[in-house]
Amino acid sequence: MCGIVGYIGKADATSVLINGLRRLEYRGYDSAGVAIMDDGRIAIAKSPGKVAALNDRARAEWPAERFSRATTGIAHTRWATHGPPTEVNAHPHLDQSGDIALVHNGIIENYRALRSRLEAKGHLFLSETDTEVLAHLIGDCHKGDLFQAICDALHQVEGTFGIAVLSARDPHRIITARRGSPIVIGVGEGETIIASDASAILSHTQRVIYLDDNDIAIVTADSIEIRDLHNVPVTREIAELGLDAEAAEKGGFDHFMLKEIHEQPDCLANAIRGRLDHSLGTSVLAGTGTSPRDLAEISRVVLVGCGTSLHAGLVGEYAFEDLADVHSEVQQAAEFRYRNPILGSRDLVVAISQSGETADTLAAVREANQKGAFVMSLCNVVGSTIARETGRGVYLHAGPEISVASTKAFTCQVAVLLMMALKLGRGRRFSREDGIRFAREIESLPSLVARVVDQSDSIATIAATYQKNEHAFFIGRGPMYPVALEGALKLKEISYLHAEGYHAAELKHGPIALLQPGTPVIALACDIPGKDKTLGNIEECRARGARILGIITEGDHEAAEFMDDFITIPRAHPLIATIPAVVALQLFAYHVARLRGCEIDQPRNLAKSVTVE
Ligand code: G6P
Repeated sequence: MCGIVGYIGKADATSVLINGLRRLEYRGYDSAGVAIMDDGRIAIAKSPGKVAALNDRARAEWPAERFSRATTGIAHTRWATHGPPTEVNAHPHLDQSGDIALVHNGIIENYRALRSRLEAKGHLFLSETDTEVLAHLIGDCHKGDLFQAICDALHQVEGTFGIAVLSARDPHRIITARRGSPIVIGVGEGETIIASDASAILSHTQRVIYLDDNDIAIVTADSIEIRDLHNVPVTREIAELGLDAEAAEKGGFDHFMLKEIHEQPDCLANAIRGRLDHSLGTSVLAGTGTSPRDLAEISRVVLVGCGTSLHAGLVGEYAFEDLADVHSEVQQAAEFRYRNPILGSRDLVVAISQSGETADTLAAVREANQKGAFVMSLCNVVGSTIARETGRGVYLHAGPEISVASTKAFTCQVAVLLMMALKLGRGRRFSREDGIRFAREIESLPSLVARVVDQSDSIATIAATYQKNEHAFFIGRGPMYPVALEGALKLKEISYLHAEGYHAAELKHGPIALLQPGTPVIALACDIPGKDKTLGNIEECRARGARILGIITEGDHEAAEFMDDFITIPRAHPLIATIPAVVALQLFAYHVARLRGCEIDQPRNLAKSVTVE
């Protein structure tokens, strides 16, 4: 979603800011803007569309020396919430005096009331945004001290914010604050970079400070002073990012998505490394901070997440019940806090989030904490809000995921959930021998996935047959049911085909009415319990003329007979097989989208990290 970059140092700020915005493009946005401190005055350039358009606009509108001489500025990519993605609605926004510029992520929920109050005092607003109201409010509170003005304004605000503020009356510093929307400050040599996401900082420094909610920081080129909103100094540690700048590059692939699909064998190896104990047939998940006694107490596992992470949770649900005999359920994070979840101290709530910033998942974590549940997280982004608020959990170690459509995070989430279920299972029904066998299967995941990734070219050939259709149905049963949901989500996200995932048996309860000769049905028909029933469901589809693409087990000639086309995955335990199966569907979706000429890494309207409800 929206992205913030701020820079104060010695370099050409406009270029640094625009390059920083490019690093945040993957988050999804629809307009962009930049404000620089030019000769004691604020200069602003904004544009709907891409960061490249903003760059062109700034070069066209500003004299060349203005473009390159500023050393301080703030910039933003906006994902429209209040008002369409137009130039006037793009950030930065100015206050009434034009001296204060603001960029903002999040939502000011009481902006209407604040706007009316300010209008009554004579403020004129140019945009439809909640952000402009905050800029004016800061200006209205300004009685000579910018820091105090921001504190006073933020006290009046309801909602969420990550902000960076530039003032012509205070040109040698930037003030940044957060509540609910992340802010990371990069501590460079004679330069400081502010960003909503560490990807924009990586090429400058590895040393960062994460702001906590209600922190407000005064930033200069060589100092960072952090206080709370009551002006009391607070100390935040400097952390090492430990991320490789190259990890955020395409590395020779046409798209980040393709690169990330290909990275999965390595990512899975990283997610698994050091976490399996083959002699005891269990897993070692240090960050969960649980003793065998704690685990024995758990009577229910509740998995919460959104989007692809929700689908990973659905696979986890099968794993916890199957391996650990523990009651398990998945809940949509968006609904969790609104439906009075019944929770107690024996419930383990696992919040699943690649970014660790998804607003609904974070709210679910807070609700579960309130209710006294045992809460942990499964995040990819180190230092993210959900990871820090839960305080315990497991990192995926998948590396930065740039493509909006999640791939490697999903497979690593499932792998980690399987390791969690194994650990819980060993305290319950799993014998040492069962555990050893399953741990070996987990260990084999990188090579199983590599065998699917190697089929990319043949999957591209199959995709060519399906790219012209407008609808597709994905079916599966057992742990392959969530894989069907995820396969459909991948296809619709990036190719804009209408795709739906159903339990194989559900098709006949309605959706089958939509099948026509040639309608694609993508069937998860691997050789696992329930396969025969799925083959029966495929027959029902074939009888109505559907074209069947099967995901089947290598060497299963019987299943192959049912298919018009098929992709094979290696034979594995049903839970383990979900991972290679989903990789086949990721590649299928990728190639369909590529052949349809879609913008794969940044699909229209989608955001990588959804920080609003
Ligand atoms: C957005 C992304 C999805 C992601 C979902 C949850 O919708 O486009 O790819 O699955 O958010 O994100 P999270 O970071 O919490 O896993």
